[in-house]
Amino acid sequence: FGSAEFVVIANRLPVDRVVAPDGSTTWRTSPGGLVTALEPVMRRKGGAWIGWHGAPDEKLRPFTHQGLKLVPVHLSESEVVEYYEGFSNGTLWPLYHDVIAPPAFHREWWDAYVTVNRRFAERAAKVAAEGAIVWVQDYQLQLVPAMLRELRPDVRIGFFLHIPFPPTELFQQLPWRREILEGLLGADLVGFQLNGAAGNFIRLVRQRVGHKTHRDAVYLPDGRVVRANAYPISIDAAGFEEMARDPAVVARAAEIRESLGNPRTIVLGIDRLDYTKGLRQRIRAFGELITEGAVHPDDAVFVQVATPSRERVDQYRMLRDEIDRLVGRLNGDVGRIGQPPITYLHASYPREEMAALYRAADVMVVTPLRDGMNLVAKEYVACRYDDRGSLVLSEFAGAAGELKQAYLVNPYDINGMKQAMLDAIKAGPKEQARRMKALRKQVMENDIDQWANDFLSELAPATHTKRTRP
Ligand code: G6P
Repeated sequence: FGSAEFVVIANRLPVDRVVAPDGSTTWRTSPGGLVTALEPVMRRKGGAWIGWHGAPDEKLRPFTHQGLKLVPVHLSESEVVEYYEGFSNGTLWPLYHDVIAPPAFHREWWDAYVTVNRRFAERAAKVAAEGAIVWVQDYQLQLVPAMLRELRPDVRIGFFLHIPFPPTELFQQLPWRREILEGLLGADLVGFQLNGAAGNFIRLVRQRVGHKTHRDAVYLPDGRVVRANAYPISIDAAGFEEMARDPAVVARAAEIRESLGNPRTIVLGIDRLDYTKGLRQRIRAFGELITEGAVHPDDAVFVQVATPSRERVDQYRMLRDEIDRLVGRLNGDVGRIGQPPITYLHASYPREEMAALYRAADVMVVTPLRDGMNLVAKEYVACRYDDRGSLVLSEFAGAAGELKQAYLVNPYDINGMKQAMLDAIKAGPKEQARRMKALRKQVMENDIDQWANDFLSELAPATHTKRTRP
C-alpha cells in the first residue's frame, strides 16, 4: 500500500497469527497494554503498523486487517529465543522492573537483539514516506531510533517506552548500556510513563555518554537536540464505557454473578501471568482474609484471570507452577462443593468478556510490584459508568500517580493489603461513588487521544524548531 506518512513500529502487530492443530490459521488480538492503547490511535490516524505477527519462521506480505495497514516482520525460531524471549524478556524486562527476577546477560542474546532491531529499522526505512513521522515503541526496539536515523535522516523519529525505565544504579549493570542510550538518542523525542523515568534517562545520558543536558533536553555534538519527557499512557476510555453499556455485556455480567453463586462481593484480578504483577502476594492476602475469618467464603469470591504470557521463559513457567499450587492449596483448604474461594482462569478472553467481568466486579485488585502504567486499572474505571465498585491499586503501578482515590497499597505489605481489600469489600455505595467519581473524571478526561496528541504535537517539526539552546 505504498509509503506511509505515519508509521508505528512495535515488536508485535495488534493481531497474532494463531495456527490451529488442523493447520488452519486465524488472527487474534495480541496480549498486553501496548496493543490496547495503540490500536485505537492507529484506527483514527491511519498509517502503517510494522511488527512481528507472533509466529516464528513465517514470512508474510503486508496486508490490511480490519482497516489497519499491517507490515509483518519475520523472526526465525532462534531469534524468537534470543531476541524476544532472551534479551527482551530475560534481560531487559526484569532489569527494567526492579530486578524482581534476576536478569540474565548473554552476549548471543545481545547480538540477536542488534540484528532484529536492524531488520525493523530497515523495514521502516522502506515504508516511511519522505519526511514521515515514525513512532518506535517499547523496550524490544531501543536501537531502532539511531539505526533508522542513519538510513533515513529526513524522517521525524519518536520513541515511547511503555515499561518503567530503571534507576541509574540498575541500568548500569547492563553491559550494553551505552549502546542502548545511543540507540534511544537517535529519536527526536523520547517518551516515558513518568517524570522520574525521564529524569533517570537524562542523568544516564549525561553521566554515561557525556552529553550536555538541561532539564528535558540533551544537546548532541552535531547540534541536534533530543527531548525526554513523561506522557502517561491511557486507553480509549469512551470506547470501553460504550462496550460496558452494551446490553449483551450487561447481561453477561449478570450471568457471571449468577454462575459464581450470587455472592455479595466479587473481587477481580486481570493480569498477564507475569512475576511483576504481584499475583502471589494478592492471593496470599485474600487467602488469609478467608482463613482468618475476616471475610466469609459465602460473602466474597475472588476471580483471577491470568492471561498466558511468554510461556517458554523459565521464570514464567515457574510462576505458573507456583500460582497453580497457591490457588489449589487455598481452594483445597477452605473450598466447599461448588464454592471455591478462588476461581482461577489461565486463558485470554475477548475484550467484551473483560468488560462484563469489570461490570460484575465489586472490587478490582491491581497490585503489581512494578508496572509502567497498568491499563487494567483504567479499563475498570472506564467501565464503571454506574459510579460503583472499588479499586485497590499498587503504589508501584504508574497509574497510581493519577488514580489517587483508589485504595493505594504497598503489595509487599501483606497486612496493609489485607486491610485495603477489607475496606474496599466493606465500602458502602456512598463511599464507592465518592471515590469512583473522582477516578472517572481522571480517566475519562485523559484518554488515549489526548496522550497521542500530546506526544505527537511535541514531536512535530513546527514545535521542535522553535526550541533553541539556552
Ligand atoms: C507489555 C509490554 C508490551 C508487550 C506486552 C505483551 O505490555 O510493554 O511491549 O507487547 O507486555 O507481552 P508480549 O511479550 O506477549 O508481547
